[in-house]
Amino acid sequence: MLGLTYQDRRAEIETYFDQTAMAAWAKLTSAAPVSGIRAKVRAGRDEMRNTLLSWLPADMTGLRLLDAGCGTGALALEAAARGATVTAIDLSPQLVALAAERARHLPHAARVTFRAGDMLDPELGAFDYAVCMDSIIHYAAADARNAITALRARTSRAVLFTFAPRTILLGSLLTVGKILPRGDRSPMIVPQSERALRRLFPVARSHRVKAAFYTSQAMELPSC
Ligand SMILES: C[S@@+](CC[C@H](N)C(=O)[O-])C[C@H]1O[C@@H](n2cnc3c(N)ncnc32)[C@H](O)[C@@H]1O
Repeated sequence: MLGLTYQDRRAEIETYFDQTAMAAWAKLTSAAPVSGIRAKVRAGRDEMRNTLLSWLPADMTGLRLLDAGCGTGALALEAAARGATVTAIDLSPQLVALAAERARHLPHAARVTFRAGDMLDPELGAFDYAVCMDSIIHYAAADARNAITALRARTSRAVLFTFAPRTILLGSLLTVGKILPRGDRSPMIVPQSERALRRLFPVARSHRVKAAFYTSQAMELPSC
């Protein structure tokens, strides 16, 4: 991890989600039965997604939202159902294809543009909101903060993101990573200091979710 550039890390994450963990991630984010810990992680992630959605307007007609690291697209589709125009982007072409396939029959899916690529690509343009649900948790602290800063500069209302809080317990409870397949180059989750984030950014709201191996904390930052 030490010494890895943002690009190195991004390449590892892409390989991990596009190949090593693709099937497990597809199952976790579906309605297929899962047992024990996975069911608790799924419930924790549902709680987190609902928290983030509760911080967005109920009517998003005319608003542009970036689902940054969209995975299989659940949050993107909820925002589109509220009327938002959504760009849903992920490094993993396979997850993006699955997201588009899951959206296929939904009328509001027409408001979602699914793309494979980097959420920090300036060519994506400007948004009212950007949401990073569990998508910057694998980056070194400096890279994660740079990503948040870049997204704030590109949004007019707020950036919502989650991070793995650095807690005493976290050493043994490293969130979703525990239940997903490990590969030779699986990216570890990098815990962040809540205090350091609060020193750097004006935090409007915050909420922590703890469910079995899923520990994640959401923050809402008003745009610059
Ligand atoms: C833990 S998954 C979460 C997916 C989705 N946000 C959710 O909550 O279901 C993290 C996702 O972030 C994506 N990701 C990480 N870094 C990214 C980047 N720089 N640009 C686009 N996607 C990225 C990964 O490919 C992965 O699909």
